Amino acid sequence: MTIRSLAAKRIVTCDPLRPGDLGIIEDGVVTIDGGRIRFVGPRADAPAVAPVRDLGDRLVTPGLIDAHTHACWVGSRHDEYARRMTGHDYRDIARSGGGILSTRRAVAAATEEELATVLADRLRRMGSLGVTTIEVKSGYGLDGPLERRQLLAIARVGALPDVPSVVPTLLALHAVPPSCSDRAAYVAGMAGEVVDAARTGLARFVDAFVDASAFSTSEALVVGEAARSAGLGIRLHVGQFADVGGAELAATLGASSVDHLEHVSREGIDALARAHVAAVLLPVSSFTLGQPPPPVPSLRAAGVALVVASDANPGTAPTESLPLALALAVRTYGLSPEEALLGATRNAATSLRLDDRGVLREGARADLAVWDLPHEHAIVQPWGVKKTHLVLVEGREL
Ligand code: NIG
Ligand code: FE
Repeated sequence: MTIRSLAAKRIVTCDPLRPGDLGIIEDGVVTIDGGRIRFVGPRADAPAVAPVRDLGDRLVTPGLIDAHTHACWVGSRHDEYARRMTGHDYRDIARSGGGILSTRRAVAAATEEELATVLADRLRRMGSLGVTTIEVKSGYGLDGPLERRQLLAIARVGALPDVPSVVPTLLALHAVPPSCSDRAAYVAGMAGEVVDAARTGLARFVDAFVDASAFSTSEALVVGEAARSAGLGIRLHVGQFADVGGAELAATLGASSVDHLEHVSREGIDALARAHVAAVLLPVSSFTLGQPPPPVPSLRAAGVALVVASDANPGTAPTESLPLALALAVRTYGLSPEEALLGATRNAATSLRLDDRGVLREGARADLAVWDLPHEHAIVQPWGVKKTHLVLVEGREL
């Protein structure tokens, strides 16, 4: 791959070493050498080594990073969505065999290849909206063989050259399968899957749904400890419906993130801040479920890093759009556009333990989004349309 430069009116680096919240360069150049950034700065300082593609008045940002998705699913849950919109409760539908169990049936009926085909198409669509790294969870298998089938499909897609970069997560505890008669044995079995996923390199993170109608902190502790001893990172679904102490557990385990957080106590927030656990905010799912927002002012005041993600899934977050999640984070959670953008770039990268992206700076991966927009605030409005002109993943055009 050759060296080339992109010139644009406004470059949002998100680099904390530059002045301002977003480290903005007016009339700047990004020079790309293979898959890496060689130079970022004002046009006048750019090295004259490369042909310059002038992007005119367009905006350049780091490629967006979606740090929480359930993108590896097949089937459709439009029927239960329609029921929910007329007042039926998500958890009641789940208890009667719908929800996660319904998607599990669809996943069980699909081959690894079919899962991979659907996932690859989905990730390409997500990438076209400006996303260059996507965390993808398993979690619709609910037993060893089916979770592995999902992880193998995710790995297969992650190896393709024309999709965003993939970070695989084993969502080890999502729902109890109908055949289970012994919860403790089930949890121990899934802890075994964690060890296996670490050995085979099929997951970088482990997740568990810690909530009143899901798994307890002591159950999540079992898979969390297995993840920690196997060297895998930990992300936890916490406080989506009720606070059962998941934030404190995440802090004890040294988790990278707690996700959802509509319900979290003052003590929980302090524990997150002390342990440097990021809060992954998922405004699409609380919008869809009609829930109040998480306590963003308290999280912000405590110094908890804020990440915004899509939660893309067929139940609570029926979208593939991280820009829509950013728009809702501003509209319904009260984030500033700057906080929302940092939550889908620099802070998202840190929460995924990726130190080579999320900012535009020399040496970073050449993951970037070029927007047909005059200003970064326009990423959060207008809604519902594709606004990218060009998306580069490691220097390659998606
Ligand atoms: O993040 N909370 C649990 N898991 C997903 C929903 C999964 C589904 O409904 O398929 C979530 O909201
Ligand atoms: Fe989720």
